[in-house]
Amino acid sequence: MNERIRRPGRVLLLGGGSEIGREILLKLDPPPGSEVILAGRDLQRMAQCGESLPFRVRTAYYDATALETHQRFVDEVFADGPVDLVISAAGVLTDQELLDRDPLRAGLLVQTNLTGHVTTLLAVAQHLRAQRRGMIVVLSSVAAVRPRKANFVYGATKAGLDAFARGLADSLHGSGVRLLLVRPGFVIGRMTAGMAPAPAATTAAAVGAAVATALAGSASVVWVPRRMGALATAMRLIPRPLWRKLPR
Ligand SMILES: NC(=O)c1ccc[n+]([C@@H]2O[C@H](COP(=O)([O-])OP(=O)(O)OC[C@H]3O[C@@H](n4cnc5c(N)ncnc54)[C@H](OP(=O)(O)O)[C@@H]3O)[C@@H](O)[C@H]2O)c1
Repeated sequence: MNERIRRPGRVLLLGGGSEIGREILLKLDPPPGSEVILAGRDLQRMAQCGESLPFRVRTAYYDATALETHQRFVDEVFADGPVDLVISAAGVLTDQELLDRDPLRAGLLVQTNLTGHVTTLLAVAQHLRAQRRGMIVVLSSVAAVRPRKANFVYGATKAGLDAFARGLADSLHGSGVRLLLVRPGFVIGRMTAGMAPAPAATTAAAVGAAVATALAGSASVVWVPRRMGALATAMRLIPRPLWRKLPR
């Protein structure tokens, strides 16, 4: 039987200031006294973000690029009690032209969007397996479907993260722990500020609602909007000479 989460009592949000993460939390219906740990670099901003959440809020310092700290960080969170839901939302989207000029920055983006999720979620999985229950939400993207020249480093991190998450989900099968992989299209908000919305653009609130619904069901993958799944199939079929002409 797959884990279903309707009313989580203890939640860890990695990337604690994430707009999408916040909208997921707002759509949940936690029982009284529930706790969320907002984990990220900017403690002040996260404390502000936490003010209107339906949870008791704790903030904790977490840097997705500080790989050597992740096992200890996760051990400490679980030492304080069981965790029902872990949302892995840390991420950066940087203009490809900037990355072309600054390969080190591209490497740090890979650490944030991929490697840090691997080191953190493997540590999380150890504890959830021991609990024999719990849920992990991983924020992939439609960018994982096919690399585009306009953001291929970001796309490569999401493709890697998506593959990692599918493999982890399979390895957790039967353990009582479930992983929900979320593939939003373009989300209008802080991360995409200044960019013209792509076709089928959505909002963080819509992603939050879709994730809350999926957590209460049994899905392993959710596209937002739902028709993005069909669009992704079409994207895979576009001949490469045409694909490389896409402006973004
Ligand atoms: N927005 C979109 O169009 C879209 C579409 C598909 C998927 N996604 C994915 O959804 C996730 C959430 O995105 P969002 O839209 O909610 O963007 P967001 O509001 O910018 O949230 C991203 C979060 O990641 C945190 N972060 C960045 N680098 C970090 C690091 N080294 N250590 C710890 N935290 C770090 C940021 O914290 P700081 O404030 O400290 O930088 C921020 O809180 C990301 O993984 C993103 O790739 C977004």
